[in-house]
Amino acid sequence: MTIETSPEPGLPDTAVTDAQPTETLIATGGEWWRSAVIYQIYPRSFADDDGDGIGDLVGITKRLDALAELGVDAIWLSPFMTSPQHDAGYDVADYCDVDPLFGTLADFDAMLEKAHALGIRLIVDLVPNHTSWDHAWFQEALAAPEGSPERDRYMFRDGKGPNGDEMPNNWESVFGGPMWERTTNPDGTPGQWYLHIFDKSQPDLNWENPWVREQFHGILRFWLDRGVDGFRVDVAHGLIKEAGLPDYTPPEDAGSMGGGAADALVGLEPGIDADADADPATPPYWAQDGVHEIYRGWHAVLEEYDGERVLCAEAWVEPLTKLARWVRPDEMQQAFNFTYLSAGWSAPELRAVIDGSIAAFATVGAPSTWVLSNHDVVRHASRLALTAENLQGAGIGPNSPGLPDTAVGLRRARAATAVMLALPGSAYIYQGEELGLPEDIYLPDEARQDPTWFRTNHEKYGRDGCRVPIPWEAGAPTYGFGPADGAASWLPQPADWDVYARSAQQGVAGSTLELYKLALRLRAAHALGTGTLEWLGGYGPEVVAFRNGDVTVIANTGSTPVELPVERSADDVLLATEPLTEAALPADTAVWLRS
Ligand code: NOJ
Repeated sequence: MTIETSPEPGLPDTAVTDAQPTETLIATGGEWWRSAVIYQIYPRSFADDDGDGIGDLVGITKRLDALAELGVDAIWLSPFMTSPQHDAGYDVADYCDVDPLFGTLADFDAMLEKAHALGIRLIVDLVPNHTSWDHAWFQEALAAPEGSPERDRYMFRDGKGPNGDEMPNNWESVFGGPMWERTTNPDGTPGQWYLHIFDKSQPDLNWENPWVREQFHGILRFWLDRGVDGFRVDVAHGLIKEAGLPDYTPPEDAGSMGGGAADALVGLEPGIDADADADPATPPYWAQDGVHEIYRGWHAVLEEYDGERVLCAEAWVEPLTKLARWVRPDEMQQAFNFTYLSAGWSAPELRAVIDGSIAAFATVGAPSTWVLSNHDVVRHASRLALTAENLQGAGIGPNSPGLPDTAVGLRRARAATAVMLALPGSAYIYQGEELGLPEDIYLPDEARQDPTWFRTNHEKYGRDGCRVPIPWEAGAPTYGFGPADGAASWLPQPADWDVYARSAQQGVAGSTLELYKLALRLRAAHALGTGTLEWLGGYGPEVVAFRNGDVTVIANTGSTPVELPVERSADDVLLATEPLTEAALPADTAVWLRS
């Protein structure tokens, strides 16, 4: 495929934007995941075909062409398995079936077939740390006596104190409140307690139990047999707890994922420090050595299958050198780089985390991944312009301090994305960021659904603001998320989102959608994902400048324009996130130049 540069910076050549499945059919070999761009679909909020206000698999299938046109290599689907939805599907009641809310296994097969026909690989979310309390295993455990094999599938413990009415230890749930819930015996008397790192509807499994391990090998095979290309592994650092479950009080400046000071930045599971060398104490429920044996077993299961199936760890572990243990050659292929996500819009921070990431993952022969947004963090089009500290997972709402300026946020987000997509390694995109969607700050309180909102007595807004259904058609009811005569979307959409709708950006020079398409097209054409990064000096402290192959990337994170190389001609500009003046790169702008 020939790539032509845009007539104007940021304007795509529409002649080559159409999906071309015959050129992109899934290739074998080459370890595709090392450089892949993977698009996260949050099924509840992507496309609603049946009109019930919640997205579904048929909706996804019908919209896959738009993702092929965008130019992604793979999609990762957040959970769509049977679930009472107390944590939006991260509370699974049957790992081997589709929740009726989202469709059927036949709908899943049809979706997978279409994705593969378009050359798009498909990764599903696997939630092994905990099940739903509705899962048959947990119901059986509750019905079984203390000390039974059924109870041993979970983390049941006696309470402390004379009547066992004190919690077994002092651990606090990631969503707020205690990490323990007391059961009631069949005769109505108070019983044992069970551990739940997250909501009480999500009891933790006991991964020391071989029976549990065996079940998950079966679950992996169930989806591999259906043809999936891999798994995103939820809470991949939580499965094993320190023996004896000792009390633990996180440091003042650390969040529940156990890390250092920079936890504050983004969200759900604070614990990430942009300082790649910081090595905080390991909390007894995170990053225990025993988890690695589990993933070596999973690696072996994936090897039984042809093609290149992958595991990607959601592991909020720092420093990066420690996270690299999850991607040793016999474990997972990828791990989300949350240290990168947690970096501020600051050139020194970005340089440090990029260097630290490439170096740390290289020690085990793994590619770095890059990610700026997902369903657990404030969207980067808002986060990068926050002027006050914001705890990860706390979200933002009308009363949050330091609320972002929307225009500044979008401008920074576009530039940050241009940096990310030029880096060697694999990049993750979260649905809606290609439209420049900001966080929905003004969701009505009564619409909020995140357990964090409830478990913190409304102290933390939680993650609903990044989960609002995405807009497809300007002017249409639910912006085309659902059918015209369908129900309102499960989270209400803001009234001013016409401007973000895909239809309003499609083919429009300089739109965020066209910027993403151009970046992905150029990234593929210049093989940036498999390239090598070489830093360029001489641009000043607020500039990130590097060369990757024949592309030079310059990003100005500062507030004053920066001079560009003088010998540049208009043809040398492959992409610019804002219009360029004569010889200067404006504030909060990134450019890709032909080297
Ligand atoms: C991480 C997931 O990304 C998040 O959405 C979920 O609430 C927790 N794990 C618990 O499964």
